Amino acid sequence: MKDLNHREFLKGTGALVVAGALPVSLVKVAFGAGSANEDFTFAHISDSHISYLGKNKFVRNWDRGLIRAVAEVNLMTPQPDFIIYGGDIAQLGTKEEIDHGLELMSKVRSKVHYVMGEHDYYVDLGKHWESRLGPQWYSFDHKGIHFVVLNSILTYDDWTHKNWPTQMDRMLAMARLDNPGGSPFMVGKEQRDWLKKDLKKVSKDTPIVVCSHSPIQKIFKGWNFWTDDAEEVQTLLKRFDKVTVIYGHVHQIQYNQIGNISFHAVMATAWPWPYPSTYSQAPSYMPELTVKMNRGDPFFERDATGWQFINTHSGNVDLHYQLPNNQNRSVVFDTKTGKPVDNKFQSVKNRIPPQTHY
Ligand SMILES: [Fe+2]
Ligand SMILES: [Fe+2]
Repeated sequence: MKDLNHREFLKGTGALVVAGALPVSLVKVAFGAGSANEDFTFAHISDSHISYLGKNKFVRNWDRGLIRAVAEVNLMTPQPDFIIYGGDIAQLGTKEEIDHGLELMSKVRSKVHYVMGEHDYYVDLGKHWESRLGPQWYSFDHKGIHFVVLNSILTYDDWTHKNWPTQMDRMLAMARLDNPGGSPFMVGKEQRDWLKKDLKKVSKDTPIVVCSHSPIQKIFKGWNFWTDDAEEVQTLLKRFDKVTVIYGHVHQIQYNQIGNISFHAVMATAWPWPYPSTYSQAPSYMPELTVKMNRGDPFFERDATGWQFINTHSGNVDLHYQLPNNQNRSVVFDTKTGKPVDNKFQSVKNRIPPQTHY
């Protein structure tokens, strides 16, 4: 992105900063001088976990996170071309929660492309979600970029169709973070076959952006920060010059580079998860590149949530995280090393010591 555009863009987001930094991801896609492609922005909202309490009541804090994100998107100048919703709009996948979440989302002015999360899926295997939103995986092209939306939270048929006492028992088994009765997520063969066919028509120099819920990489199995057939999906993406995977689910900053693929997590509107290594009994498989954020401060409702805008320079993606109660962060693609780096905190001596709560 040219400097002038960058300044204008920041000026345009001034209203947002005044309104409060919120868990929205504004994505700027820039192709650089001489490119036939047109720059554009899209926004990304994820993981609202709308929770139904009965009698038309919903958990207030999760509602507020999504309401604020929607308000910010509507304040954005320029308006994003479209919005990606990254999954887990519901907590337990019920009709009440999905309908309420979509009602809150209906206030945005741009088109929304939805990604399926496990919290949306494991009650009725995505039937209500599908009846409201359409197919669980699909692709589309926008101003020179090929976007692929995957349902990455499927699992083995044996687990899904085992004799659960109720559908809600299945959901509760999958909804837990430390998930002892759950099952690893996967994209699955049917969808991989579809993806292979879908990508056949795309030229090698077309930038690809994949939106998934779980990371299409293996980070920590115990919490399902994991997709079991990640390598098989990565293989299908190998022949392209520039590939970015943007995912929700982990509710925290993570970034990585595997071969030609850059990986970036987006923030949740609901709450932050700790990093797996926060619990000493859990071995950490965090990507080596990731500089961890401090754990969220429970006294700040929106702490360790945030929004980010993203620049794509000729198909390489930079994320700029705007964080209400943490220092802002930028994770920028370094063309020399071919990896994303945190341009302020990557060096060990510059890191912020962990935050302690009493
Ligand atoms: Fe989530
Ligand atoms: Fe999730």
